Amino acid sequence: MNKPFSQACENNKVPILQILKSAFAHSRRVLEIGSGTGQHAVFFAPRLPHLIWQTSDQPQYHAGILEWISESPSSNLKPPLSLTVGESAWPTHTYDGMFTANTAHIMQKHETKLMMEQVSQHLPEGGMFCQYGPFTQDGVFSSQSNREFHQQLIESGYGGYRDISELTLWAEPLKLLAINPMPANNLLLVWQK
Ligand SMILES: C[S@@+](CC[C@H](N)C(=O)[O-])C[C@H]1O[C@@H](n2cnc3c(N)ncnc32)[C@H](O)[C@@H]1O
Repeated sequence: MNKPFSQACENNKVPILQILKSAFAHSRRVLEIGSGTGQHAVFFAPRLPHLIWQTSDQPQYHAGILEWISESPSSNLKPPLSLTVGESAWPTHTYDGMFTANTAHIMQKHETKLMMEQVSQHLPEGGMFCQYGPFTQDGVFSSQSNREFHQQLIESGYGGYRDISELTLWAEPLKLLAINPMPANNLLLVWQK
């Protein structure tokens, strides 16, 4: 099997890490939702050695994630849990940090709503949630290419971009601490319970 590869992950991993270093400075156990290829996990885990990084995704992604982990193992990096929001039970461990990248516009709207609700429900008081991706703000797309990508997603059956205001409603009582601009007109939202 060819190892899955995402050029976008290579492009965004350094700026994302800069934010995670401060957002997760006091976190001990982080759950990543929708690890995808696993590239983010193998890059972040050794650079955040004070915490345990738990990967997760739908089962069909596990082989690729495991391949990345076996090539770049890290003592604080855990093989993927099966987590399909809307189908799976929530993992049983307590995670005081959660991370997800590029999932809210892929999931169906009801799945993204459920993800925000479940993250909010399962984080302990003070827990952090870092959410990377493209979003609209007050209904406005940050670029023409984002508007076109959203349209393509809808036409292909994906959920499409979510507005930060709807995420904020679904995530209550999480507080949106920061909206960090990222490369390629993406954002990194930092939430805290
Ligand atoms: C565009 S990929 C992003 C992967 C990776 N986080 C990244 O940034 O490259 C979207 C990810 O969302 C995951 N995903 C889609 N629907 C999901 C659901 N209902 N529950 C959990 N993960 C889901 C996919 O399995 C996939 O890994």
